[in-house]
Amino acid sequence: MIDPNEYYAGGLAVRTYDLFAGGGPLTGDIDFYRACARRFGTNVLELGVGTARIAIPLAQNGCSVTGVDLAQAMLDLAARKIASLPPATAARIDLVRGNMGDFDLGKQFDWIVIAARAFQHLIEPATQRSALRAMHRHLRPGGHLVIDLFDPRLEFCLPEAPLPEQAREVWDPVTGCRIRRTIIARNNDPFRQLVSERLRLEAIDGAGAVLAAEETSWALRWTLRQEMEYLLELCGFRAVEQLSDFAASQPTYGKEQIWIARAV
Ligand SMILES: C[S@@+](CC[C@H](N)C(=O)[O-])C[C@H]1O[C@@H](n2cnc3c(N)ncnc32)[C@H](O)[C@@H]1O
Repeated sequence: MIDPNEYYAGGLAVRTYDLFAGGGPLTGDIDFYRACARRFGTNVLELGVGTARIAIPLAQNGCSVTGVDLAQAMLDLAARKIASLPPATAARIDLVRGNMGDFDLGKQFDWIVIAARAFQHLIEPATQRSALRAMHRHLRPGGHLVIDLFDPRLEFCLPEAPLPEQAREVWDPVTGCRIRRTIIARNNDPFRQLVSERLRLEAIDGAGAVLAAEETSWALRWTLRQEMEYLLELCGFRAVEQLSDFAASQPTYGKEQIWIARAV
């Protein structure tokens, strides 16, 4: 049984989440979502809110944000960050523990955002559909849905696809340690469209000593572009824009799939 979300359960992975988030193919995502707020409205629901990496800048720009997440450890970290904001900004963020696969918040929003591929942690097609239907119920008529997925490169989906050659390293300004993240195993399942990765995280001090280490995992379901368009249609949305990065480039194979869809 695959747990797609072990990574977010706590420990070093959660403590260092923000150090690894953003950048690479997600470069510019925060500014992009700020621009979405100017276009679609200030009453926002973020699903898979995580550490509030996106929710906080939206609230700083005047949005009211409800953030839903499955992982208590991510919500706890988000809550600590929010507690250090000016009270008027903090008051605009409401965190809710819940499952985007099916939820009922009893209210509607101008738009919904699912950033950083969080939707892909829904690894069953039936759950993707129930999630999108729940989103539809939570949008005001004509409201918008903004979702970021990766666009799968076909060689990356093969069972024998190679592991990335390099670990990623970031510097943790709080502890002064380097944090190294290495993918130590990957299993691609083309039948279920699943990539499952086992990762090792290490905190390394200035002398090169490993002070802490842990292993964890995550899994994501890849979705082809046309499949996503049909899925949106099936659940009451019409895709109005597709982009391949946060600089608004046209759809391109193997980059991001950024969808803007309208509830119809
Ligand atoms: C890659 S992180 C994205 C966090 C944040 N949106 C960002 O952009 O940094 C994915 C988040 O989705 C959450 N998540 C995964 N499956 C979920 C589900 N079924 N319902 C709600 N949250 C979920 C995880 O707990 C995690 O916090």
